[in-house]
Amino acid sequence: MANKNIPIKFTKIFINNKFLDAVSGKTFPTINPTNGKKITDVAEGDKADVDEAVAAASAAFRRGSPWRTMDASARGQLIHKLATLLERDVKYLANLESLDNGKTYTNSLGDIMYSAGLLKYYAGWADKIHGHTCPSDGPVLTLTRKEPVGVVGQVVPWNYPVLMLAMKWGPALAAGCTMVLKPAEQTPLTALCIASLAKEAGFPAGVVNVVPGYGPTAGAAIANHPQINKVAFTGSTEVGRIIAEAAAKSNLKRVSLELGGKSPLVVFSDADLDLAVGVAHEALFVNHGQICTAGSRTFVQDDIYDSFVRKAVERASARTVGDPFASGVQQGPQVDEDMFNKVLGLIESGKAEGAKLECGGERLGSEGYFIKPTVFSGVTDDMRIAREEIFGPVQSIIRFKTLEEVIERANNTRYGLAAGIITNDIDKAMAFALSVQAGSVWINGYNMIVPQAPFGGFKESGTGRELGEDSLKEYLEVKTITIKLPEKF
Ligand code: NAI
Ligand code: MG
Repeated sequence: MANKNIPIKFTKIFINNKFLDAVSGKTFPTINPTNGKKITDVAEGDKADVDEAVAAASAAFRRGSPWRTMDASARGQLIHKLATLLERDVKYLANLESLDNGKTYTNSLGDIMYSAGLLKYYAGWADKIHGHTCPSDGPVLTLTRKEPVGVVGQVVPWNYPVLMLAMKWGPALAAGCTMVLKPAEQTPLTALCIASLAKEAGFPAGVVNVVPGYGPTAGAAIANHPQINKVAFTGSTEVGRIIAEAAAKSNLKRVSLELGGKSPLVVFSDADLDLAVGVAHEALFVNHGQICTAGSRTFVQDDIYDSFVRKAVERASARTVGDPFASGVQQGPQVDEDMFNKVLGLIESGKAEGAKLECGGERLGSEGYFIKPTVFSGVTDDMRIAREEIFGPVQSIIRFKTLEEVIERANNTRYGLAAGIITNDIDKAMAFALSVQAGSVWINGYNMIVPQAPFGGFKESGTGRELGEDSLKEYLEVKTITIKLPEKF
Protein backbone atom coordinates (compact mmCIF):
# COMPACT_ATOMS: atom_id res chain seq x y z
CA MET A 1 0.00 0.00 0.00
CA ALA A 2 1.08 3.54 -0.70
CA ASN A 3 2.24 4.99 2.62
CA LYS A 4 4.27 8.16 3.07
CA ASN A 5 4.75 7.59 6.82
CA ILE A 6 7.28 4.79 6.55
CA PRO A 7 10.28 4.56 8.89
CA ILE A 8 13.58 5.71 7.33
CA LYS A 9 16.00 2.96 8.28
CA PHE A 10 19.26 3.77 6.50
CA THR A 11 20.90 7.20 6.34
CA LYS A 12 24.60 6.45 6.72
CA ILE A 13 27.48 5.68 4.39
CA PHE A 14 27.79 1.99 3.47
CA ILE A 15 31.36 0.68 3.37
CA ASN A 16 32.57 -2.90 3.97
CA ASN A 17 29.02 -4.04 4.81
CA LYS A 18 28.77 -1.47 7.62
CA PHE A 19 26.81 1.76 7.96
CA LEU A 20 29.13 4.60 9.04
CA ASP A 21 29.04 8.31 9.77
CA ALA A 22 30.96 10.57 7.40
CA VAL A 23 34.63 11.04 8.33
CA SER A 24 33.87 14.77 8.60
CA GLY A 25 30.77 14.08 10.73
CA LYS A 26 28.74 16.15 8.30
CA THR A 27 25.20 15.42 7.16
CA PHE A 28 22.93 16.91 4.50
CA PRO A 29 19.14 17.09 4.34
CA THR A 30 17.14 15.20 1.77
CA ILE A 31 13.95 17.04 0.83
CA ASN A 32 10.39 15.92 0.13
CA PRO A 33 9.56 17.61 -3.20
CA THR A 34 5.82 17.63 -2.51
CA ASN A 35 6.27 20.23 0.25
CA GLY A 36 9.93 21.32 0.24
CA LYS A 37 10.39 20.01 3.80
CA LYS A 38 13.24 17.88 5.10
CA ILE A 39 12.63 14.10 5.22
CA THR A 40 15.78 13.30 7.15
CA ASP A 41 19.50 14.02 7.35
CA VAL A 42 21.93 11.75 5.53
CA ALA A 43 25.65 11.29 6.15
CA GLU A 44 27.54 13.52 3.71
CA GLY A 45 30.41 11.64 2.16
CA ASP A 46 33.30 13.47 0.52
CA LYS A 47 36.83 12.61 -0.59
CA ALA A 48 37.82 11.01 2.73
CA ASP A 49 34.82 8.65 2.63
CA VAL A 50 35.35 7.84 -1.05
CA ASP A 51 38.97 6.96 -0.16
CA GLU A 52 37.73 4.53 2.51
CA ALA A 53 35.16 3.02 0.18
CA VAL A 54 37.76 2.57 -2.56
CA ALA A 55 40.13 0.94 -0.07
CA ALA A 56 37.35 -1.51 0.86
CA ALA A 57 36.49 -2.19 -2.79
CA SER A 58 40.19 -2.68 -3.62
CA ALA A 59 40.62 -5.15 -0.75
CA ALA A 60 37.51 -7.04 -1.86
CA PHE A 61 38.97 -7.24 -5.38
CA ARG A 62 42.41 -8.45 -4.26
CA ARG A 63 43.75 -11.76 -5.59
CA GLY A 64 42.57 -14.65 -3.41
CA SER A 65 39.67 -12.70 -1.86
CA PRO A 66 36.31 -14.45 -1.35
CA TRP A 67 34.86 -12.46 -4.26
CA ARG A 68 37.71 -13.23 -6.68
CA THR A 69 37.77 -16.93 -5.84
CA MET A 70 34.00 -17.39 -5.91
CA ASP A 71 32.62 -19.50 -8.76
CA ALA A 72 31.00 -17.35 -11.42
CA SER A 73 27.76 -19.31 -10.97
CA ALA A 74 27.73 -18.42 -7.26
CA ARG A 75 28.21 -14.78 -8.19
CA GLY A 76 25.17 -15.09 -10.42
CA GLN A 77 23.17 -16.58 -7.56
CA LEU A 78 24.05 -13.64 -5.30
CA ILE A 79 22.81 -11.17 -7.92
CA HIS A 80 19.66 -13.24 -8.30
CA LYS A 81 19.17 -13.25 -4.54
CA LEU A 82 19.47 -9.46 -4.45
CA ALA A 83 16.78 -9.26 -7.15
CA THR A 84 14.41 -11.40 -5.06
CA LEU A 85 15.03 -9.14 -2.03
CA LEU A 86 14.02 -6.13 -4.15
CA GLU A 87 10.83 -8.01 -5.01
CA ARG A 88 10.23 -8.93 -1.37
CA ASP A 89 10.60 -5.30 -0.24
CA VAL A 90 9.06 -3.70 -3.32
CA LYS A 91 6.36 -1.83 -1.39
CA TYR A 92 8.71 -0.36 1.19
CA LEU A 93 11.23 0.63 -1.51
CA ALA A 94 8.50 2.16 -3.67
CA ASN A 95 7.25 4.25 -0.76
CA LEU A 96 10.80 5.39 -0.02
CA GLU A 97 11.42 6.25 -3.68
CA SER A 98 8.19 8.25 -4.00
CA LEU A 99 8.89 10.11 -0.77
CA ASP A 100 12.42 11.11 -1.80
CA ASN A 101 11.86 11.69 -5.53
CA GLY A 102 8.19 12.67 -5.87
CA LYS A 103 7.39 10.15 -8.59
CA THR A 104 4.06 8.38 -8.25
CA TYR A 105 3.88 5.27 -6.09
CA THR A 106 2.68 3.29 -9.11
CA ASN A 107 5.69 4.40 -11.13
CA SER A 108 8.02 3.56 -8.25
CA LEU A 109 6.58 0.04 -8.05
CA GLY A 110 7.19 -0.33 -11.79
CA ASP A 111 10.78 0.94 -11.53
CA ILE A 112 11.65 -1.49 -8.76
CA MET A 113 10.11 -4.53 -10.44
CA TYR A 114 11.91 -3.57 -13.66
CA SER A 115 15.16 -3.27 -11.69
CA ALA A 116 14.67 -6.74 -10.18
CA GLY A 117 14.15 -8.17 -13.67
CA LEU A 118 17.24 -6.35 -14.88
CA LEU A 119 19.34 -7.82 -12.06
CA LYS A 120 18.02 -11.31 -12.87
CA TYR A 121 19.01 -10.82 -16.51
CA TYR A 122 22.60 -10.06 -15.41
CA ALA A 123 22.56 -12.86 -12.82
CA GLY A 124 22.20 -15.20 -15.79
CA TRP A 125 25.25 -13.69 -17.51
CA ALA A 126 27.71 -14.25 -14.64
CA ASP A 127 28.81 -17.72 -15.78
CA LYS A 128 28.38 -17.11 -19.51
CA ILE A 129 31.16 -14.59 -20.06
CA HIS A 130 33.43 -16.47 -22.46
CA GLY A 131 36.80 -15.83 -24.04
CA HIS A 132 38.01 -17.41 -27.31
CA THR A 133 40.73 -19.61 -28.60
CA CYS A 134 42.29 -17.96 -31.63
CA PRO A 135 43.54 -19.64 -34.83
CA SER A 136 47.01 -18.10 -34.37
CA ASP A 137 49.94 -17.92 -36.78
CA GLY A 138 52.92 -20.08 -35.75
CA PRO A 139 53.33 -22.88 -33.18
CA VAL A 140 51.38 -21.20 -30.42
CA LEU A 141 48.02 -21.64 -28.74
CA THR A 142 46.33 -18.33 -28.03
CA LEU A 143 43.35 -17.86 -25.82
CA THR A 144 41.54 -14.86 -24.46
CA ARG A 145 40.01 -14.41 -21.04
CA LYS A 146 37.51 -11.72 -20.04
CA GLU A 147 38.49 -10.32 -16.67
CA PRO A 148 36.69 -7.78 -14.47
CA VAL A 149 38.07 -4.28 -14.95
CA GLY A 150 38.48 -3.87 -11.17
CA VAL A 151 37.07 -1.23 -8.85
CA VAL A 152 34.22 0.65 -10.49
CA GLY A 153 32.93 4.09 -9.52
CA GLN A 154 29.31 4.87 -10.30
CA VAL A 155 27.72 8.32 -10.22
CA VAL A 156 23.99 8.34 -10.82
CA PRO A 157 21.18 10.90 -11.08
CA TRP A 158 17.89 11.34 -9.25
CA ASN A 159 15.29 10.67 -11.94
CA TYR A 160 15.34 6.85 -11.69
CA PRO A 161 17.38 6.21 -8.53
CA VAL A 162 16.78 2.44 -8.22
CA LEU A 163 16.81 1.75 -11.94
CA MET A 164 20.09 3.63 -12.45
CA LEU A 165 21.63 1.65 -9.61
CA ALA A 166 20.46 -1.66 -11.11
CA MET A 167 21.70 -0.69 -14.59
CA LYS A 168 25.15 -0.20 -13.13
CA TRP A 169 25.28 -2.92 -10.47
CA GLY A 170 23.92 -5.73 -12.66
CA PRO A 171 26.68 -5.81 -15.28
CA ALA A 172 29.43 -4.73 -12.84
CA LEU A 173 28.66 -7.59 -10.46
CA ALA A 174 28.14 -10.15 -13.26
CA ALA A 175 31.57 -9.18 -14.59
CA GLY A 176 33.10 -9.64 -11.10
CA CYS A 177 33.93 -6.01 -10.32
CA THR A 178 33.68 -4.30 -6.94
CA MET A 179 31.93 -0.95 -6.69
CA VAL A 180 31.54 2.47 -5.08
CA LEU A 181 28.23 4.13 -5.94
CA LYS A 182 27.33 7.74 -5.30
CA PRO A 183 23.59 8.30 -5.45
CA ALA A 184 22.27 11.75 -6.38
CA GLU A 185 22.12 14.20 -3.47
CA GLN A 186 18.38 14.70 -4.14
CA THR A 187 17.56 10.98 -3.73
CA PRO A 188 20.02 9.06 -1.54
CA LEU A 189 17.58 6.90 0.43
CA THR A 190 16.75 3.90 -1.78
CA ALA A 191 20.39 3.18 -2.66
CA LEU A 192 21.26 2.96 1.05
CA CYS A 193 18.35 0.61 1.64
CA ILE A 194 19.42 -1.60 -1.28
CA ALA A 195 22.96 -1.63 0.12
CA SER A 196 21.52 -3.31 3.22
CA LEU A 197 19.82 -5.85 0.93
CA ALA A 198 23.16 -6.58 -0.76
CA LYS A 199 24.59 -7.41 2.65
CA GLU A 200 21.57 -9.60 3.43
CA ALA A 201 21.95 -11.36 0.07
CA GLY A 202 25.47 -12.35 1.13
CA PHE A 203 27.84 -10.23 -0.94
CA PRO A 204 31.27 -10.26 0.72
CA ALA A 205 32.25 -7.06 2.54
CA GLY A 206 33.66 -4.37 0.25
CA VAL A 207 32.07 -5.60 -2.99
CA VAL A 208 29.24 -3.07 -2.73
CA ASN A 209 29.81 0.40 -1.24
CA VAL A 210 27.50 3.41 -1.30
CA VAL A 211 28.69 6.94 -0.50
CA PRO A 212 25.97 9.60 -0.55
CA GLY A 213 27.14 13.17 -1.02
CA TYR A 214 27.42 16.02 -3.49
CA GLY A 215 28.80 16.00 -7.02
CA PRO A 216 31.72 18.44 -6.79
CA THR A 217 33.01 16.67 -3.62
CA ALA A 218 32.13 12.95 -3.48
CA GLY A 219 31.40 12.67 -7.21
CA ALA A 220 34.61 14.41 -8.20
CA ALA A 221 36.61 12.20 -5.78
CA ILE A 222 35.30 9.16 -7.66
CA ALA A 223 36.06 10.60 -11.10
CA ASN A 224 39.60 11.55 -10.05
CA HIS A 225 40.46 8.50 -7.94
CA PRO A 226 43.71 6.79 -8.96
CA GLN A 227 42.54 3.35 -7.70
CA ILE A 228 39.21 3.36 -9.53
CA ASN A 229 39.57 1.53 -12.84
CA LYS A 230 36.32 2.56 -14.47
CA VAL A 231 33.66 5.18 -13.91
CA ALA A 232 30.07 4.86 -15.09
CA PHE A 233 28.07 8.07 -15.09
CA THR A 234 24.50 9.06 -15.89
CA GLY A 235 23.47 12.70 -15.77
CA SER A 236 23.96 15.97 -17.60
CA THR A 237 26.26 16.35 -20.60
CA GLU A 238 28.05 19.17 -18.75
CA VAL A 239 29.03 16.92 -15.83
CA GLY A 240 29.77 14.06 -18.25
CA ARG A 241 32.45 16.26 -19.77
CA ILE A 242 33.93 16.97 -16.30
CA ILE A 243 34.01 13.24 -15.51
CA ALA A 244 35.70 12.33 -18.80
CA GLU A 245 38.30 15.03 -18.25
CA ALA A 246 38.97 13.89 -14.67
CA ALA A 247 39.32 10.29 -15.86
CA ALA A 248 41.81 11.32 -18.54
CA LYS A 249 43.84 13.51 -16.17
CA SER A 250 44.01 11.00 -13.31
CA ASN A 251 44.62 7.39 -14.39
CA LEU A 252 42.85 7.01 -17.76
CA LYS A 253 40.12 5.04 -16.06
CA ARG A 254 37.56 3.61 -18.46
CA VAL A 255 34.52 5.83 -18.86
CA SER A 256 30.93 5.20 -19.85
CA LEU A 257 28.55 8.14 -20.02
CA GLU A 258 24.80 8.21 -20.42
CA LEU A 259 23.91 11.87 -20.85
CA GLY A 260 21.25 14.25 -21.97
CA GLY A 261 19.01 14.21 -25.00
CA LYS A 262 16.64 16.22 -27.15
CA SER A 263 14.99 13.30 -28.82
CA PRO A 264 12.72 13.67 -31.87
CA LEU A 265 9.42 11.83 -32.09
CA VAL A 266 8.07 12.10 -35.63
CA VAL A 267 4.37 11.65 -36.40
CA PHE A 268 3.29 11.11 -40.01
CA SER A 269 -0.23 11.91 -41.16
CA ASP A 270 -0.90 8.30 -42.19
CA ALA A 271 -0.72 7.21 -38.53
CA ASP A 272 -3.74 6.55 -36.31
CA LEU A 273 -4.11 10.01 -34.77
CA ASP A 274 -5.27 8.91 -31.31
CA LEU A 275 -2.50 6.34 -31.03
CA ALA A 276 0.06 8.94 -32.11
CA VAL A 277 -1.21 11.54 -29.64
CA GLY A 278 -1.12 8.97 -26.83
CA VAL A 279 2.40 7.75 -27.61
CA ALA A 280 3.72 11.31 -27.94
CA HIS A 281 2.05 12.31 -24.66
CA GLU A 282 3.61 9.46 -22.67
CA ALA A 283 6.95 9.90 -24.47
CA LEU A 284 7.21 13.37 -22.97
CA PHE A 285 5.18 13.41 -19.75
CA VAL A 286 6.29 10.09 -18.25
CA ASN A 287 8.16 10.61 -14.96
CA HIS A 288 7.13 14.32 -15.07
CA GLY A 289 9.28 14.79 -18.17
CA GLN A 290 12.35 13.90 -16.13
CA ILE A 291 13.74 11.25 -18.43
CA CYS A 292 16.83 11.37 -20.61
CA THR A 293 14.98 9.85 -23.58
CA ALA A 294 11.98 12.24 -23.39
CA GLY A 295 10.39 12.70 -26.81
CA SER A 296 10.92 16.40 -26.36
CA ARG A 297 10.71 17.45 -30.00
CA THR A 298 7.30 16.29 -31.23
CA PHE A 299 7.48 16.68 -35.04
CA VAL A 300 4.00 16.48 -36.55
CA GLN A 301 3.25 16.44 -40.30
CA ASP A 302 1.67 19.54 -41.72
CA ASP A 303 -1.74 18.15 -42.77
CA ILE A 304 -2.63 16.78 -39.30
CA TYR A 305 -0.80 19.42 -37.25
CA ASP A 306 -3.80 21.38 -36.00
CA SER A 307 -5.92 18.38 -35.04
CA PHE A 308 -2.88 16.76 -33.36
CA VAL A 309 -2.27 19.89 -31.28
CA ARG A 310 -5.93 20.02 -30.23
CA LYS A 311 -5.90 16.40 -29.05
CA ALA A 312 -2.47 16.73 -27.40
CA VAL A 313 -3.77 19.69 -25.39
CA GLU A 314 -6.83 17.68 -24.33
CA ARG A 315 -4.55 14.85 -23.16
CA ALA A 316 -2.18 17.15 -21.28
CA SER A 317 -5.02 19.10 -19.65
CA ALA A 318 -6.57 15.85 -18.43
CA ARG A 319 -3.34 14.62 -16.81
CA THR A 320 -3.83 14.41 -13.06
CA VAL A 321 -1.14 16.16 -11.03
CA GLY A 322 -0.86 15.95 -7.27
CA ASP A 323 0.18 13.81 -4.30
CA PRO A 324 2.32 10.98 -5.71
CA PHE A 325 0.87 8.64 -3.07
CA ALA A 326 -2.77 9.26 -4.06
CA SER A 327 -4.31 6.70 -6.37
CA GLY A 328 -5.05 7.87 -9.91
CA VAL A 329 -2.42 10.62 -9.81
CA GLN A 330 -0.20 10.53 -12.91
CA GLN A 331 2.26 13.29 -12.10
CA GLY A 332 3.90 14.43 -8.89
CA PRO A 333 6.28 17.33 -8.27
CA GLN A 334 9.57 18.05 -10.07
CA VAL A 335 12.46 16.70 -8.03
CA ASP A 336 13.74 19.92 -6.43
CA GLU A 337 13.65 23.69 -6.46
CA ASP A 338 16.51 23.96 -8.97
CA MET A 339 14.77 21.78 -11.52
CA PHE A 340 11.44 23.50 -10.83
CA ASN A 341 13.02 26.89 -11.57
CA LYS A 342 14.91 25.59 -14.59
CA VAL A 343 11.71 24.22 -16.16
CA LEU A 344 9.69 27.39 -15.41
CA GLY A 345 12.55 29.46 -16.89
CA LEU A 346 12.48 27.46 -20.11
CA ILE A 347 8.69 27.85 -20.28
CA GLU A 348 9.20 31.64 -20.05
CA SER A 349 11.77 31.47 -22.84
CA GLY A 350 9.26 29.60 -25.04
CA LYS A 351 6.70 32.36 -24.53
CA ALA A 352 9.26 35.11 -25.10
CA GLU A 353 10.57 33.50 -28.29
CA GLY A 354 7.08 33.35 -29.80
CA ALA A 355 5.86 29.79 -29.28
CA LYS A 356 2.12 29.52 -28.55
CA LEU A 357 1.38 28.37 -25.00
CA GLU A 358 -1.61 26.03 -25.42
CA CYS A 359 -2.00 24.90 -21.80
CA GLY A 360 -0.19 24.81 -18.46
CA GLY A 361 2.86 27.03 -18.29
CA GLU A 362 2.84 27.67 -14.55
CA ARG A 363 3.21 26.09 -11.15
CA LEU A 364 0.35 24.19 -9.59
CA GLY A 365 -0.56 25.05 -6.00
CA SER A 366 1.56 27.07 -3.62
CA GLU A 367 3.80 24.47 -1.98
CA GLY A 368 6.07 21.84 -3.46
CA TYR A 369 7.49 21.77 -6.97
CA PHE A 370 4.41 20.97 -9.06
CA ILE A 371 4.18 22.23 -12.65
CA LYS A 372 1.08 22.01 -14.81
CA PRO A 373 1.43 19.81 -17.89
CA THR A 374 2.42 22.29 -20.58
CA VAL A 375 2.03 22.21 -24.35
CA PHE A 376 3.57 24.65 -26.83
CA SER A 377 2.58 24.76 -30.50
CA GLY A 378 4.24 26.78 -33.23
CA VAL A 379 7.66 25.78 -31.95
CA THR A 380 10.55 26.37 -34.35
CA ASP A 381 13.95 24.68 -34.39
CA ASP A 382 15.86 27.75 -33.23
CA MET A 383 13.92 28.24 -29.96
CA ARG A 384 15.56 27.22 -26.68
CA ILE A 385 12.66 24.85 -25.92
CA ALA A 386 13.51 23.01 -29.16
CA ARG A 387 17.24 22.88 -28.50
CA GLU A 388 17.81 22.52 -24.75
CA GLU A 389 16.95 19.61 -22.51
CA ILE A 390 14.01 20.87 -20.41
CA PHE A 391 13.64 17.78 -18.21
CA GLY A 392 10.11 18.73 -17.25
CA PRO A 393 6.46 18.36 -18.35
CA VAL A 394 6.70 20.60 -21.40
CA GLN A 395 5.73 19.31 -24.84
CA SER A 396 7.03 21.25 -27.87
CA ILE A 397 5.07 20.51 -31.04
CA ILE A 398 6.91 21.31 -34.25
CA ARG A 399 5.53 21.29 -37.82
CA PHE A 400 7.18 19.44 -40.73
CA LYS A 401 6.29 18.54 -44.31
CA THR A 402 8.50 15.81 -45.79
CA LEU A 403 10.51 12.77 -44.71
CA GLU A 404 13.79 14.15 -46.07
CA GLU A 405 13.26 17.44 -44.26
CA VAL A 406 12.39 15.85 -40.92
CA ILE A 407 15.38 13.50 -40.97
CA GLU A 408 17.70 16.46 -41.42
CA ARG A 409 15.98 18.52 -38.73
CA ALA A 410 15.82 15.56 -36.32
CA ASN A 411 19.60 15.19 -36.64
CA ASN A 412 20.30 18.89 -36.24
CA THR A 413 21.22 18.64 -32.54
CA ARG A 414 24.31 17.91 -30.46
CA TYR A 415 22.41 15.06 -28.85
CA GLY A 416 21.69 11.55 -30.14
CA LEU A 417 20.10 9.45 -27.44
CA ALA A 418 16.78 8.27 -28.84
CA ALA A 419 14.20 8.84 -31.57
CA GLY A 420 10.74 7.64 -32.45
CA ILE A 421 8.52 7.50 -35.49
CA ILE A 422 4.80 6.82 -35.82
CA THR A 423 3.61 5.76 -39.25
CA ASN A 424 1.92 2.87 -41.00
CA ASP A 425 4.39 3.10 -43.87
CA ILE A 426 7.23 0.63 -43.34
CA ASP A 427 9.40 2.37 -45.93
CA LYS A 428 9.18 5.69 -44.11
CA ALA A 429 9.77 4.00 -40.77
CA MET A 430 12.91 2.25 -42.00
CA ALA A 431 14.28 5.26 -43.89
CA PHE A 432 13.99 7.24 -40.66
CA ALA A 433 15.27 4.47 -38.37
CA LEU A 434 18.36 3.92 -40.51
CA SER A 435 19.11 7.62 -40.99
CA VAL A 436 18.52 9.13 -37.58
CA GLN A 437 21.59 9.63 -35.38
CA ALA A 438 20.37 8.04 -32.15
CA GLY A 439 21.28 5.08 -29.97
CA SER A 440 17.68 3.81 -29.76
CA VAL A 441 14.94 4.17 -32.36
CA TRP A 442 11.36 3.19 -31.54
CA ILE A 443 8.75 2.58 -34.21
CA ASN A 444 5.06 3.00 -33.37
CA GLY A 445 5.83 3.17 -29.66
CA TYR A 446 8.30 4.92 -27.38
CA ASN A 447 10.64 4.21 -24.45
CA MET A 448 10.57 0.49 -25.17
CA ILE A 449 13.76 -0.10 -23.19
CA VAL A 450 14.39 -3.77 -22.38
CA PRO A 451 17.16 -5.28 -20.24
CA GLN A 452 18.25 -7.56 -23.10
CA ALA A 453 19.10 -4.84 -25.64
CA PRO A 454 21.78 -2.13 -25.53
CA PHE A 455 20.92 1.45 -24.63
CA GLY A 456 23.08 4.55 -24.97
CA GLY A 457 23.84 7.66 -26.95
CA PHE A 458 25.34 8.89 -30.21
CA LYS A 459 27.15 12.23 -30.26
CA GLU A 460 27.02 14.25 -26.99
CA SER A 461 24.43 11.93 -25.46
CA GLY A 462 27.24 9.75 -24.28
CA THR A 463 29.69 6.97 -24.86
CA GLY A 464 29.43 3.25 -24.19
CA ARG A 465 26.28 1.22 -23.79
CA GLU A 466 24.20 0.03 -20.86
CA LEU A 467 21.89 -2.99 -20.77
CA GLY A 468 22.21 -6.10 -22.89
CA GLU A 469 25.44 -7.93 -23.58
CA ASP A 470 27.10 -4.69 -24.67
CA SER A 471 27.03 -3.32 -21.14
CA LEU A 472 29.15 -6.20 -19.85
CA LYS A 473 31.99 -5.15 -22.17
CA GLU A 474 32.19 -1.87 -20.30
CA TYR A 475 33.17 -3.79 -17.15
CA LEU A 476 35.61 -6.28 -18.70
CA GLU A 477 39.22 -6.28 -19.82
CA VAL A 478 40.33 -8.81 -22.42
CA LYS A 479 43.52 -10.68 -21.61
CA THR A 480 45.36 -12.61 -24.33
CA ILE A 481 47.35 -15.64 -23.14
CA THR A 482 49.73 -17.27 -25.60
CA ILE A 483 51.36 -20.68 -25.01
CA LYS A 484 54.44 -21.69 -27.02
CA LEU A 485 54.10 -25.13 -28.56
CA PRO A 486 56.97 -27.38 -29.74
CA GLU A 487 55.52 -27.51 -33.24
CA LYS A 488 52.37 -26.73 -35.14
CA PHE A 489 49.68 -29.38 -34.53
P1 NAI B 1 24.03 16.40 -12.77
O1 NAI B 1 24.66 15.87 -14.01
O2 NAI B 1 24.64 17.59 -12.13
O3 NAI B 1 23.96 15.25 -11.65
C1 NAI B 1 24.03 13.87 -11.89
C2 NAI B 1 24.98 13.24 -10.89
O4 NAI B 1 26.28 13.78 -11.07
C3 NAI B 1 24.62 13.49 -9.42
O5 NAI B 1 24.91 12.33 -8.66
C4 NAI B 1 25.56 14.62 -9.05
O6 NAI B 1 25.84 14.67 -7.66
C5 NAI B 1 26.78 14.26 -9.84
N1 NAI B 1 27.69 15.37 -10.09
C6 NAI B 1 27.38 16.69 -10.23
N2 NAI B 1 28.50 17.41 -10.42
C7 NAI B 1 29.54 16.54 -10.41
C8 NAI B 1 30.95 16.69 -10.56
N3 NAI B 1 31.53 17.88 -10.73
N4 NAI B 1 31.72 15.58 -10.50
C9 NAI B 1 31.16 14.38 -10.32
N5 NAI B 1 29.84 14.17 -10.16
C10 NAI B 1 29.03 15.25 -10.21
O7 NAI B 1 22.51 16.66 -13.08
P2 NAI B 1 21.50 17.63 -12.30
O8 NAI B 1 22.21 18.84 -11.81
O9 NAI B 1 20.78 16.81 -11.32
O10 NAI B 1 20.51 18.03 -13.47
C11 NAI B 1 20.92 18.98 -14.45
C12 NAI B 1 20.43 18.57 -15.81
O11 NAI B 1 21.04 17.36 -16.20
C13 NAI B 1 18.94 18.28 -15.87
O12 NAI B 1 18.22 19.47 -16.06
C14 NAI B 1 18.86 17.38 -17.06
O13 NAI B 1 18.84 18.16 -18.24
C15 NAI B 1 20.17 16.59 -17.01
N6 NAI B 1 20.01 15.26 -16.40
C16 NAI B 1 20.06 14.15 -17.22
C17 NAI B 1 19.85 12.90 -16.69
C18 NAI B 1 19.88 11.67 -17.55
O14 NAI B 1 19.21 10.71 -17.22
N7 NAI B 1 20.67 11.63 -18.62
C19 NAI B 1 19.54 12.69 -15.28
C20 NAI B 1 19.58 13.90 -14.49
C21 NAI B 1 19.80 15.12 -15.06
MG1 MG C 1 24.09 19.52 -11.19
